[in-house]
Amino acid sequence: MFLDDLLTDFGPRFRVPLGAIRTGLRYGRMPLFVSWIVTNRCNLRCVYCGCPHIKTAELSTEQALRLVTEMADLGVLAVHITGGEPLVRKDLDRIVSRLRSTGVRFGISTNGTLVPKRQALFEGCSSVSLSLDGPPIVHDQHRKTGQVAEVLDACRVLSSMDVETRLVSLVTRNTTTDSMRFVMEQAQVYGAKVYFQPALDVVLSTTDENPVVAQSKKVNALFSDLIDFKTAGKPIGNSVASLKHMARWPHQEPLRCMLQRVAVRVDPQGVLLPCHERADAPDGVSVLDGGFGSALSSLKSKSCTECWGSSRVQARESFRANPAELISLAGTMLGSQSAR
Ligand SMILES: C[S@@+](CC[C@H](N)C(=O)[O-])C[C@H]1O[C@@H](n2cnc3c(N)ncnc32)[C@H](O)[C@@H]1O
Ligand code: SF4
Ligand code: SF4
Repeated sequence: MFLDDLLTDFGPRFRVPLGAIRTGLRYGRMPLFVSWIVTNRCNLRCVYCGCPHIKTAELSTEQALRLVTEMADLGVLAVHITGGEPLVRKDLDRIVSRLRSTGVRFGISTNGTLVPKRQALFEGCSSVSLSLDGPPIVHDQHRKTGQVAEVLDACRVLSSMDVETRLVSLVTRNTTTDSMRFVMEQAQVYGAKVYFQPALDVVLSTTDENPVVAQSKKVNALFSDLIDFKTAGKPIGNSVASLKHMARWPHQEPLRCMLQRVAVRVDPQGVLLPCHERADAPDGVSVLDGGFGSALSSLKSKSCTECWGSSRVQARESFRANPAELISLAGTMLGSQSAR
């Protein structure tokens, strides 16, 4: 109790990190980074993604707003909003407005379709991750005809607002060195960085085989090329250490990682999950049953054998290189989050 009072007395300037320390003492985990799948609904049907087919209940607006307040009180530093397509949630403006007013940093992943219509959402947003897999012959084949044009429109809107934009590009069987060049050229035009990541062997959030998964030799070779592109100064956001990790896809090994102590996921129904699991993992506890802190104390730790999402890999590599830089990881974690 004494320590609690002492931490509170440091005052509002230190509220966020001290709140996290207090939470760590009380609940055994410090949830600094939250990846929040606000919905599984989506206005696209990408060939490699099963999210839109998962029918789940969603937190109501009031429940979502309460969750933001609780997260802020418990010291969460950064929330990455993802989906499904988060912009299909009509109340997203109220959710981000609560994030702004509580001082929690936030990032958003989107397919770009609704960015021009919902521009106001991005005010105060730390970074936006937009998926772009290549020129139309690659990307539109994965997503829908005309989607590249929509993503580039979104890039224009975001660059006019000076919002940090990240292009998240999946390496699939359709990826070529030229298609990666196309994405890097677009990044150059809009002042963005590209984060490449391998498409998983399964359709996201399912156990079905991904119809566009690449052969491992191809992935290994393309990531080796990306290391050369990065060294040559191309706008690639992945660190060299991350690219080296990706170049070993789909190698599986027990991974030592402390990030699951500070990074969690929340699914659309409010179920709290460890860093590496998605909505298809049923063993979390809902924040609706006693709040975020209580769900946190019930969270089970598991060791990972795979880690391929670009922002997680990046955060893991940076944390391994310099554990003292935990707080500056907030920016790294505000990137796109795929499954593993
Ligand atoms: C699930 S989407 C949610 C955000 C938004 N709807 C979008 O498409 O960017 C988040 C990221 O997961 C990636 N993704 C989807 N299916 C995947 C798969 N099977 N393997 C790896 N990444 C995948 C998407 O390309 C996207 O960059
Ligand atoms: S990858 Fe994103 S845009 Fe595509 S179906 Fe999944 S959630 Fe929707
Ligand atoms: S998914 Fe990656 S970053 Fe997250 S706990 Fe596992 S190894 Fe660490």
